[in-house]
Amino acid sequence: MPVENPRLLTKNYDTPNSWTLAAYEASGGYQALRKAIAMGPAAIREEVKAANLRGRGGAGFAAGVKWSFLKTSPDKPNYIAVNADEGEPGTIKDRTLMEKDPHRCVEGFIIAAYALDVHTVFVYIRGELVLAIKRIEQAVREARAKGYLGDKVIDQDFKLDIVVHAGAGAYICGEETSLLNSLEGLRGEPRLKPPFPAVVGAFGAPTIVNNLETLATVPTIIELGGDAFSKLSRLHHLRDGGVRLYGISGHVNRPGVYEAPVGITLRELIDDLGGGVRKGHTLKAVIPGGSSTPVLREQDVVHAPDEKHPLHAWHGKSHLDVPMGVDTMRGLGTMLGTCCAIVMDETTSMVRVAENLMMFYAHESCGQCTPCREGCAWMARLCQQVRRRHGHAGRPRHARRRRQQHHGQHHLRARRRRGDAHAGDPEAVS
Ligand SMILES: Cc1cc2nc3c(=O)[nH]c(=O)nc-3n(C[C@H](O)[C@H](O)[C@H](O)COP(=O)(O)O)c2cc1C
Repeated sequence: MPVENPRLLTKNYDTPNSWTLAAYEASGGYQALRKAIAMGPAAIREEVKAANLRGRGGAGFAAGVKWSFLKTSPDKPNYIAVNADEGEPGTIKDRTLMEKDPHRCVEGFIIAAYALDVHTVFVYIRGELVLAIKRIEQAVREARAKGYLGDKVIDQDFKLDIVVHAGAGAYICGEETSLLNSLEGLRGEPRLKPPFPAVVGAFGAPTIVNNLETLATVPTIIELGGDAFSKLSRLHHLRDGGVRLYGISGHVNRPGVYEAPVGITLRELIDDLGGGVRKGHTLKAVIPGGSSTPVLREQDVVHAPDEKHPLHAWHGKSHLDVPMGVDTMRGLGTMLGTCCAIVMDETTSMVRVAENLMMFYAHESCGQCTPCREGCAWMARLCQQVRRRHGHAGRPRHARRRRQQHHGQHHLRARRRRGDAHAGDPEAVS
């Protein structure tokens, strides 16, 4: 059965000048905002709860529940901090939303702000994403000029501004409390929790930190209604609702970003959306949701005999055939993370992969905690030693053999071209 292709979040991706206000409005943009304002803040929050929208930034926490934790007080403002740092290797989804449909993001920020009585939204975007920053800034300017932002949002008694903040490209600043530190001009290091940002966040005020895709999904939830949105998911029964963006990179024929219901399988992601593993090769392993999520491979589910276990229905089936959801991936001992998979075929050395990733984490460690500061560098060195002791570039033995054969044939062909008639003849004495 082919994967459903709902095109709700990505419906404008192929429209010419999709990032402009004119194109967004022509496709029905900002109608969800009008509907949301007519509904009122409490009803919006209820719809988001009913949508079972799990955070798209990695941890998969239910957005509606997180919103309910916002500890408002009369003497402090509430803030929203949009996490568009997207620094996880292999993760490329938020960038496409910002570049191709920035007004969908802005509309999501406005609806969320209205629902949470927020008057300033900070959008923290990774500094290297130059085009994304430009597009979001342009969208904010256009929205302000059209009255979607400012002192009276669509002539209502609601004031809102959006501040775009470019990060300096530190992976740790994607972690929500480091992000808040960085936003405040402090060193990008995580804060101790509790207090959680919903209680003490940016500038000491209650702050909801949400991933950019999480908020860009809100207009669709308002359009369809929370329950209908949730039911688009194959894991609606596990309270993991709707559709989401899937990224796929590595050894596949069609790497990219695709929209699909929550709960498609890794096999569907690789074969149907990613066009399959590259020709002539077989799958070795896959990192399911960004480089910090443990690796999966073709292996049976063996630990879900209990009926209440989220993986009970998949007992005895391959890990690749388990629907990708927050709880199901956790049940497999990995994480759904950012839902952007990295596919590796049999030519990949897992030692080399581990070394490469550990070098990344060693470089990006903020140095605050010893296991990460010391451990990542040690792990990288350990992998290096394993690789050196094997005396090769880290490729598996059969891949090396294939490479040697390939080189051998290359030399033979060269000798034949030079007129050596006996090249390759084992009987010939040279
Ligand atoms: C080291 C680290 C890096 C992270 N990087 C990101 C990131 O780039 N983008 C993101 O949205 N969340 C990132 N997160 C998760 C955030 O801390 C936070 O959970 C998320 O922004 C909450 O949004 P959500 O509930 O909408 O998913 C990171 C977490 C950690 C521990």
